[in-house]
Amino acid sequence: MRKKIIAGNWKMNIKPSETAALIKAVAEATKDYSNVEIVCCTPAIDVPAAVEAAKGTAVGVGTENCHWKESGAYTGEISTGMIVDAGCKYVITGHSERRQYFGETDETVNLRTRAAIAAGLTCMMCIGETLEEREAGKLVEVIERQMNVGLKDVTAADCAKLVIAYEPVWAIGTGKTATPDQAQEVHALIRATLAKLVGAETAETVRIQYGGSMKPGNAAELLAKKDIDGGLIGGAALKAADFAGIIAAAAAAN
Ligand code: 13P
Repeated sequence: MRKKIIAGNWKMNIKPSETAALIKAVAEATKDYSNVEIVCCTPAIDVPAAVEAAKGTAVGVGTENCHWKESGAYTGEISTGMIVDAGCKYVITGHSERRQYFGETDETVNLRTRAAIAAGLTCMMCIGETLEEREAGKLVEVIERQMNVGLKDVTAADCAKLVIAYEPVWAIGTGKTATPDQAQEVHALIRATLAKLVGAETAETVRIQYGGSMKPGNAAELLAKKDIDGGLIGGAALKAADFAGIIAAAAAAN
């Protein structure tokens, strides 16, 4: 019922001159998996090359952040209008690296998420606890706060453009993956929290991705879980063969 969505988050890793080759390799390696939604979120400066290379393929392109204002004196930021105009259909908001290094808060994540949805972009809003929060027994509190504040004033109708990415901070880039049971437990909590916000029926339609050291070797067991509807992939999205391996696992799990 919920189409699996596998999205790469390139972070600050691929240059414009390297972009077309990676997008084309991903498109070629994944062309048989039409039952999976495939996305590459790239640095903003890579977007023109990515959009051009993705033309005529099933690969969608997105950015890693957006601002909530349409335009103005916000040096270094990009608006949702610019992202749409450049040919993107997706955006990531609230990534833990933006929360950790760039002062992102639940409130600004909410502003960015609402702006993205209003612009017609599919928004992958990231949430997840740190190791300290998990060890202090604050997992539920943190997830509920990130959901309640991050999704303030997001309506049931808006949820057609919403994807939640659960990324335990301790699993990002560390090689430590949440076990399928650990991930499923939090995904179920996210869906239950979403049900309180927008109703159970809508909550059932929203896709929840797992992110954090997902790779071809562990994707199948994660994606087999009831509430795990895709992945947000960092390191393994930088090599077409690895990314395609995860997409193959998603296609088989459908
Ligand atoms: P890794 O797959 O490199 O752990 O990164 C996950 C992530 O942060 C995706 O947004």
